[in-house]
Amino acid sequence: MSQPYASTVTPLFTTEIYRADLSDMPDFAVYLEEIDDTCRAFADEDEAGQNWSQQKGYLGYTSYGSLNNLPLLASAFEDLKAHTDAHAARFVEILEYDLPAGALKLDNMWINILEPMGHHSNHIHPHSLISGTFYVSVPDGASALKFEDPRLTSFMNSPPRKEGAKREHQPFVYEAPKPGTILMWESWLRHEVPINLSEDIRISISFNYSW
Ligand SMILES: [Fe+2]
Repeated sequence: MSQPYASTVTPLFTTEIYRADLSDMPDFAVYLEEIDDTCRAFADEDEAGQNWSQQKGYLGYTSYGSLNNLPLLASAFEDLKAHTDAHAARFVEILEYDLPAGALKLDNMWINILEPMGHHSNHIHPHSLISGTFYVSVPDGASALKFEDPRLTSFMNSPPRKEGAKREHQPFVYEAPKPGTILMWESWLRHEVPINLSEDIRISISFNYSW
């Protein structure tokens, strides 16, 4: 077969995942310990959240149904909001959304403490623009975050991708966080937390921004 003449390929309709790392911050270890302690204290004391988690079959504790306004409740979370505000603003710039000044606002922020063997099945975050998670404790074997190609239902007759295909060609992409990582994505993007195969709990703080 003859070789084709020169060509170009243009990626279009891209899906972008934002990643930042707070671990280079001065006094990060102190900050992380404070936020870790605060998450554990909330989990111990928030009976409404414990009950909500149990009713919803969440293996561990989430404050999603009880205390989802964290920045108003503890200074460690207020500090975190300053970081997520800055990164969310940068992300919408990267995405080139034409937003009115000051429109982007944090809607909610909540704690997730996932026990070993806990998971959070495929979902989106309705009514939001940008969603994300800050990772506090990620022990060895703890779940990465798994994203699904939003065009998956259009691939009825597509062959599988080659083993080792580029990430941007994979139908599922895993993003492995470490303590201090902030991940953000557009809220319509389906994602899941696979089973936590660590022997220890995994602690994270999730949030939604709307406009
Ligand atoms: Fe989520």
